[in-house]
Amino acid sequence: VKRIGILTSGGDAPGMNAAIRAVVRKIIFDGNEAYGIRYGYRGLAEGDIRKLSVNDVSDTLSKGGTMLYTARYPEFKNKEGQQKGIEQLKKFGIDSLIVIGGDGSYQGAKALSEAGFPTVGIPGTIDNDIAGTDFTIGFDTACNTALEAIDKLRDTATSHMRTFIVEVMGRDAGDIALWSGLGSGAEQIIIPEAEFNMDEIVAQVDRGRERGKKHTIIILAEGVMRGADFEKALNERGDYHARVTVLGHVQRGGAPTARDRVLASMFGYTAVELLNKGKSGVCIGIQGKDIVYNDISKVLSGKQRTTNPYMALYDVNNEISY
Ligand code: F6P
Repeated sequence: VKRIGILTSGGDAPGMNAAIRAVVRKIIFDGNEAYGIRYGYRGLAEGDIRKLSVNDVSDTLSKGGTMLYTARYPEFKNKEGQQKGIEQLKKFGIDSLIVIGGDGSYQGAKALSEAGFPTVGIPGTIDNDIAGTDFTIGFDTACNTALEAIDKLRDTATSHMRTFIVEVMGRDAGDIALWSGLGSGAEQIIIPEAEFNMDEIVAQVDRGRERGKKHTIIILAEGVMRGADFEKALNERGDYHARVTVLGHVQRGGAPTARDRVLASMFGYTAVELLNKGKSGVCIGIQGKDIVYNDISKVLSGKQRTTNPYMALYDVNNEISY
């Protein structure tokens, strides 16, 4: 009987529970034992580990957050922190590990696999900023949450003829901004991957107003600048009645969408299959319709995310939402 551990690390993302459930159920289906490690790498170093049963993951699929809890634990970057984790894994007789998270979590997974401990990664982050996969768990739900908020902001923007700047998350990636922007018909999407010009933005807002447009929505990715600074810069150019809304951590919560649940279930299942086949140091992804896996080291070097695959969205938005 094999003992497989699972943890979630870094920022949580809707759908992580669906992935945990799939991992645990598949492990037990195969006749092996599943061990949940709470609070990410911190819990690993501290030995916050317990065996999970089929029932432990019941009624979790539809819930946001992570039932294993999560933490940011920079100490795991050091050999000392990693060694503590490996000792705990040995103590519990765990022989392989599945890590769900973003690139920080992948750094830990890479270190463990390089130290000889079989580890597989699953991309879970709302930012969609992991190479080697078209989508990460949680991204779709976060975009839908942002969309719902933007639709509501448009109502009040129209009533007052205001310009709304909506700051969305994404760290250094513009994916949430692109998808929620195109999906909501935002007049402007400002992302770290593309230059922006304040004069052009102002000119576009003016053209809209001349045409009788009652609102302007500008989606600003947090990786570009703070919404408050953008608002100030815009209001300095004229009477735009600009208001800023920072969507913040609302984007991290809520019930996962069908897409995130299905993606998470497929990723969880595949991670266990890869460990069963003796793979280590790899992470799961989806490319087109295929569930794939790549070397974590390649994914971390970012080489497989050479261009933003969604720049087309940016160009399309510029031509249809103005
Ligand atoms: O990586 C997910 C994310 O929500 C980013 O979009 C954001 O920049 C960051 O985490 C916020 O981190 P924290 O939850 O530590 O405030």
